[in-house]
Amino acid sequence: MERVLIAGCGYVGSALAARLAAEGHQVYGMRRNPAVLPPGVRPIAADLRDPATLGVLPAGLTTIFYTAAADGGSDDEYRAAYVDGPRNLLAALVARGERPRRVVFTSSTSVYGQGAGEWVDEDSPTEPEGFGGRRMLEGEGIVRGGPIPGVVLRLGGIYGRGRTSYIDRVRSGAAECPAETTYTNRIHRDDCAGALRHLMLLDAPDPVYLGVDRAPADTCEVMHWLAATLGRPAPARATTASTRRRGNKQCRSDRLVASGYEFIYPTYREGFAALL
Ligand SMILES: NC(=O)c1ccc[n+]([C@@H]2O[C@H](COP(=O)([O-])OP(=O)(O)OC[C@H]3O[C@@H](n4cnc5c(N)ncnc54)[C@H](OP(=O)(O)O)[C@@H]3O)[C@@H](O)[C@H]2O)c1
Repeated sequence: MERVLIAGCGYVGSALAARLAAEGHQVYGMRRNPAVLPPGVRPIAADLRDPATLGVLPAGLTTIFYTAAADGGSDDEYRAAYVDGPRNLLAALVARGERPRRVVFTSSTSVYGQGAGEWVDEDSPTEPEGFGGRRMLEGEGIVRGGPIPGVVLRLGGIYGRGRTSYIDRVRSGAAECPAETTYTNRIHRDDCAGALRHLMLLDAPDPVYLGVDRAPADTCEVMHWLAATLGRPAPARATTASTRRRGNKQCRSDRLVASGYEFIYPTYREGFAALL
């Protein structure tokens, strides 16, 4: 049995917490408002930005998951969540003499700056254009270079129950395809939880894994598939390119699969079908 701390126990963290608790692990869920944690998860009220609140950590933890997310889209909020938070948590663990076996950090595919639809994997260059990706990389560095062996899972866009923006837009008729082929890399919440659990159980994990499903896809293909499945009109392509700068790459999760992970929802088709 593991003694697990999930720091930032929100959408993904709660799915992971519920699964691990059901398997008999002792699971602590940390967040500022822990009143909403799943049953069987022991609540810890603390603010990862404030070291003074981190004295409440339980002893004898074996695995730490860091799944906190930024409160908003500013650089300050990203720094607080992905740099200050992991740094404070690791310092608090060390100060208490805690030596967990592993800390697993949820990063993001935003660490890749590739924008021409290239395939990327864990060895591809990470040269993000925005501060978001840069702060994630900083956080990765803190976890990988820290006192506890660190593993990073770079997640794509997370969807699942309660996070159905694609479905909602297609259903309401508000969806529009980007003017040019733009790839989306997605992962169902249950696979986020499954992959994190898998990384906890691996004997000798690599330092970094991509956490995306097996089918990066043109956003327009996804919308057209949804429209056909829902019996709605196929969204048209926008006539002008978006001015929003965003990456455009196809992420490969071969390393995760080679390590033994089996996706519950290998592509958006199975994942969305389960939600419809
Ligand atoms: N959403 C995506 O598509 C996506 C894509 C790639 C990567 N990721 C990453 O995946 C991870 C999980 O995402 P998610 O969607 O599950 O996030 P989420 O639902 O927003 O959950 C984040 C949790 O962190 C807690 N938290 C935030 N700041 C905190 C602080 N200072 N101290 C303690 N707890 C704090 C929040 O609870 P309180 O407000 O109660 O504190 C919340 O429960 C995050 O690291 C995120 O950056 C997400």
